Amino acid sequence: MYPWVIVAICHLYFIKPVVLYHVTHITPNQFNTFEYTNLTFSHAESPVWDPDIQTLYWVDVLQQDVHSLDYRTKQHKVKHINYGEVNIVIPIKNSSRLLVGVRNELHIMDWTRPGDSALRFVAAFDQGLPDNILNEGIVDALGRFWGGTKGHQHGNDVVWDEGALYSLEPPHFVPQIRLKPVSISNGLVWSLNNTIMYYIDSLSRRIEAFDFNLERGHISRRRTILELDEYWDTEVIADGMTIDKDGFIWIALMFHGCIVRINPDTRTIVERYKLPVTLTTSLTWGGPNLDDLIVTTSRRNMSPDTLKKQPLAGSVFILHNMGTSGVREHKFVFNNADTYK
Ligand SMILES: *[C@@H]1O[C@H](CO)[C@@H](O)[C@H](O)[C@H]1NC(C)=O
Ligand SMILES: *[C@@H]1O[C@H](CO)[C@@H](O)[C@H](O)[C@H]1NC(C)=O
Ligand SMILES: *[C@@H]1O[C@H](CO)[C@@H](O)[C@H](O)[C@H]1NC(C)=O
Repeated sequence: MYPWVIVAICHLYFIKPVVLYHVTHITPNQFNTFEYTNLTFSHAESPVWDPDIQTLYWVDVLQQDVHSLDYRTKQHKVKHINYGEVNIVIPIKNSSRLLVGVRNELHIMDWTRPGDSALRFVAAFDQGLPDNILNEGIVDALGRFWGGTKGHQHGNDVVWDEGALYSLEPPHFVPQIRLKPVSISNGLVWSLNNTIMYYIDSLSRRIEAFDFNLERGHISRRRTILELDEYWDTEVIADGMTIDKDGFIWIALMFHGCIVRINPDTRTIVERYKLPVTLTTSLTWGGPNLDDLIVTTSRRNMSPDTLKKQPLAGSVFILHNMGTSGVREHKFVFNNADTYK
């Protein structure tokens, strides 16, 4: 047991108590230890680590909340947005504000302002398709935002080919289409030398790669790194993705409760870890040494029976002793974000 005590009050956002439970030796071939939040989220996503302030951020998509957990003070903050699905949170360079993806829009969010007055509009995506959602985003080595959309969703089903992948950069922050059509734009990460972009459109059931020109933000020469059909049945889809310091990519497999480590050069799965839940949504590296693997999970559309069998569904898991570590993620470059109206 590993109680992290939280004491801090601010009326502009909610502080909830969070206790991280520590577990050791699940089975011999798994990660040695992990912790999980005793709070569960409807659909936790977009975990991201800010090394400058040792803080983990994530969102609860359906509750429309942004969460932060400061590793140094153990303070957990929750901000309710109340403006539609919140899928993305990203730190901004030299700013205490955050970039957030809400519905099909990007906004700059200020913790200190209440409700949706905390949002400052930056850009809208897939204009003319108001039910589309900006689903996942990340920042490249030059500080550009990259993110993609998904089409209208009913239950677990999403309409095919209604989304696109965009990039966004100064000075005008006008979304630029980089790939179209896509169905559920998801995990995206670059090789450590920035010459390859790895990409997941979940409905394609593939992990793909493109040649990447960092200077121009161009992608080309699309190819497949891994076909999920060769390993799993059709229900399993790839969701979030991250990279480790050895250049191997890590993927959260939704509906399978697994994360896998892939060598993208040999196109092989080299490690696989099972979590005690089925809806694993995304993952990132965090902690003082960037060697905690943080995995978000969901309880979206789960029956009461399934929830009883998976009481930890929707928790945030922190896995230790993974034998590798992450690399520092890039922050969004947006000058004067603190004063942006
Ligand atoms: C988490 O733990 C704290 C501290 O023990 C407790 O106050 C809170 O109710 C717990 N939350 C849940 C959802 O169990
Ligand atoms: C950081 O932000 C502050 C206040 O917004 C500004 O005065 C300063 O010039 C910025 N520094 C850099 C390096 O951009
Ligand atoms: C860049 O990294 C990729 C992925 O590991 C590798 O395949 C490629 O050969 C590297 N390119 C250069 C120029 O080193």
